[in-house]
Amino acid sequence: MTRVLPESRLVCEQCGTEFPELTARIDCECGGLFALRHPVPGARGEGLARRFELRKGEDNVVARSGVWRFRELVYPGAGAEVVSHPEGNTALLKRDRVAEWAGVAGLSLKHEGHNPTGSFKDRGMTVGITQARRLGAAAVLCASTGNTAASLAAYAAQAGIPALVMVPAGQVTMGKLAQSLAYGARTLLVRGDFDACMRLAREAASQLGIYLLNSVNPFRIEGQKTIVFELLEQCGWDPPDWIALPAGNLGNTAAFGAALRDAFALGLIRRMPRLAAVQAAGAAPFAAGFRGGFTRRERVQPETVATAIRIGDPASWDRAVRAIRETNGVVTDVPDQDILDAKSAIDTSGVGCEPASAASVAGVRRLVREGTIAPGARVVAVLTGHLLKDPSGGSETTARANQPIEIEPRLTEVERFMARPI
Ligand code: F0G
Repeated sequence: MTRVLPESRLVCEQCGTEFPELTARIDCECGGLFALRHPVPGARGEGLARRFELRKGEDNVVARSGVWRFRELVYPGAGAEVVSHPEGNTALLKRDRVAEWAGVAGLSLKHEGHNPTGSFKDRGMTVGITQARRLGAAAVLCASTGNTAASLAAYAAQAGIPALVMVPAGQVTMGKLAQSLAYGARTLLVRGDFDACMRLAREAASQLGIYLLNSVNPFRIEGQKTIVFELLEQCGWDPPDWIALPAGNLGNTAAFGAALRDAFALGLIRRMPRLAAVQAAGAAPFAAGFRGGFTRRERVQPETVATAIRIGDPASWDRAVRAIRETNGVVTDVPDQDILDAKSAIDTSGVGCEPASAASVAGVRRLVREGTIAPGARVVAVLTGHLLKDPSGGSETTARANQPIEIEPRLTEVERFMARPI
């Protein structure tokens, strides 16, 4: 007997129009973005939490993926067509050195750089590519600062779907570019910034009929919600006071808001943590919007060493505003030097991350110093990408850079340099 899977609906966040789950378009005629609405799961609260936990022990690797073990809240109808590496089930780390640097002893780090392509993007991409396969998409496309492109390229390769990626020429790290090329995506270096790539990708998607997999695509958001489900589970469903994350195109901020909304509505948590979205000071339209009470949509010409979040006109603005409002959240920004200092604290603790990821920890320190986050608070900072994504560290000449030393193959040379403090 074949099991009838439950159907989800795409709902326009602007005009409320609904579409069936197997709809190829990613936004509404009115210009609004879609959210996914799933059937109510057959369990709530502790019963639902136990179901998620038990799946970690399943024989089937897809069933125990850190995304698909939450499938009721992600995409219950995906069935056998799931394209999973697998992904997720990332570590929640405690490192005193980082906590001390940030000024809050109860700091934990959720390391999304431990995903298969080295960033959190894999969580959304497994769902996005699954949907592309279900729709029979001829090709998939994204604009990217590098990580989305790497993830799209990997999952599209696994599914056997041709992939096209558009990245800003000269603004993508070698690690990320190497991944897109190696996985076989057609890689276009666009003479313009990320925002220009995004506009071009949207135009190409609608004119050439290619399935767009940026985070404006609601299936990406559903997958990224699992970062929050998993970290709440790792906290025993007793939420931290704050969740801090780097913010660029704002897909993740939107996903975190949606996940907390789901978790609260289903009785998985009894209290809402507050979101702290952190931007680089040179690319901080959302922080400017927050300071102005979100009365208007801001745009800037972006510049930062954290190339992953070098974005001036974020696509998921409205849904991210909702996430900040519903969680009584804050948006802040941090100068590049603070990002590099935070990265240095994270790297020298043995954890490591790419520059954009360190923005979350730099933001926590700023908010503690300003008195927004209490020093006794419990805080989870999300590290979004792996250290090797950007081996330059974001700067060739960071003051604290640990320089290699070339020597002759002689023991006296080793002794000479061992005498210096490391
Ligand atoms: N951190 C990293 C490492 C990223 O790659 C990104 C976004 C973000 C944070 C910000 O997340 O856009 O959801 O607010 N990277 C996108 C990309 C833009 O193309 O890889 P966001």
